[in-house]
Amino acid sequence: MTKSSNPPSSGLPRREFLKTAGAGLAALPLLSRNAFAGGSDKLKVGLIGCGGRGTGAAMQAIRADSGVVLWAMGDLFANRLASSYEGLSSNFPDQVDVPSERQFVGFDAYLKVIEECDVVLLTTTPAFRPMHIAAAVEGGCHIFAEKPVAVDAPGARSVLASARKAKAKGLSLASGFCWRADNCLRAGYDRILAGDIGEVRHIHATYLASELWYKKRQPEWSDMEYQLRNWYYYTPFSGDHIVEQAIHSVDKILWAKEDSPPIYATAMGGRQVRTNPKYGNIYDHFGVVYDWADGTQGFLQTRQQNGCHGENLDRVVGSEGIAHIDGWQQKFAIRGVKSWDFAGESNDMYQTEHDELFAAIRSGLAMNQGDEMVQSTVAALMGRMSAYTGQRITYQQAFESQENLLPKEWVFGEGIEVSIAMPGRTKFL
Ligand SMILES: NC(=O)c1ccc[n+]([C@@H]2O[C@H](COP(=O)([O-])OP(=O)(O)OC[C@H]3O[C@@H](n4cnc5c(N)ncnc54)[C@H](O)[C@@H]3O)[C@@H](O)[C@H]2O)c1
Repeated sequence: MTKSSNPPSSGLPRREFLKTAGAGLAALPLLSRNAFAGGSDKLKVGLIGCGGRGTGAAMQAIRADSGVVLWAMGDLFANRLASSYEGLSSNFPDQVDVPSERQFVGFDAYLKVIEECDVVLLTTTPAFRPMHIAAAVEGGCHIFAEKPVAVDAPGARSVLASARKAKAKGLSLASGFCWRADNCLRAGYDRILAGDIGEVRHIHATYLASELWYKKRQPEWSDMEYQLRNWYYYTPFSGDHIVEQAIHSVDKILWAKEDSPPIYATAMGGRQVRTNPKYGNIYDHFGVVYDWADGTQGFLQTRQQNGCHGENLDRVVGSEGIAHIDGWQQKFAIRGVKSWDFAGESNDMYQTEHDELFAAIRSGLAMNQGDEMVQSTVAALMGRMSAYTGQRITYQQAFESQENLLPKEWVFGEGIEVSIAMPGRTKFL
């Protein structure tokens, strides 16, 4: 493993990087990549992005299938990889086999992991997800991809194209919209979709949370390293908190609407408390109204401010009843003509996501959540775009947006320039 915390960069422009990735990987042997049906053969799993969620996802993959071996790991930073490896190898000595020659650091680490593995867990900073998904599909890997799957529309379109390729190749593509794997919510949303609250008239969702972590600048860090270590605060890297965190609520709003996309979003937001320049350019609150052609509306309120009331609730109002959902408390209650309370067995939704992915891989019947993962990501982008510009934004506009937020090349050195969006002045591109 490269020990430097300033990994060498490829120095390639972003689009060139992707093209090169594709070209290089096209030559990989694909024969055995999706041939695990019914067997107990070893499944070589690679972790790309060894942070909090990635380390958790690797544990869940290991627990999901006794044939799983964590086989390669990649991260931008050696210290993140090392601490993840330490935890995983000491807890799962029989299913972690990642010697230093399969520990990769740097912007091109993902290519090396993909080359070594049958399944990859894509859990980096969101900005890289479209590039990593494209390369993994090209390389013939089954994929678990954390949400959000893109920070801009070019990324979303790329993921949709990759999802279609994955389908054609019989590769599984599972998403990190974890609430979709929660027993309590599954049982409740099944009832909503079966008509137990009548026609859905409106949906109200809240994601009211606190501020997150901040990584103090170290003298040896370049501007880009500093920004990437604090990726959360930069819209080009995280998508802003409506796309990175409250996207779970957006996803649940769409779930109640049978995954039909809203026609437009009208949003507002701002940066009221988290104003220090060290917090990059993201907002600290948003309010969005989503509209569907049939008159249904979805309302989302989200904030990340300390010292305030916190909750993560969804309320789905129908013509014959109201569903009250408290995900954090695992509570789902319907009040109305068909009142109901969830009283089933609760589960670890993160584990279920992986249990289902690995069962699909073993069954030979690939699962593909590409359409839903892109749609929920675009719906979250609509909210951000509308709040940033002050304009009403249609789903089509958001999906076709030409705004490319990513830097021209991924290289440590100069940072990216960001500005704080000003509604009415910031242009929709
Ligand atoms: N589904 C959920 O409930 C849930 C929960 C937490 C996080 N997440 C998602 O998981 C992702 C990661 O979040 P996290 O909390 O683990 O963040 P994190 O900062 O702890 O981990 C991200 C890791 O990726 C590495 N990384 C960044 N760019 C990379 C690249 N190009 N190549 C290789 N490694 C790279 C970072 O160095 C870091 O170690 C985010 O998309 C986040 O939204 C989902």
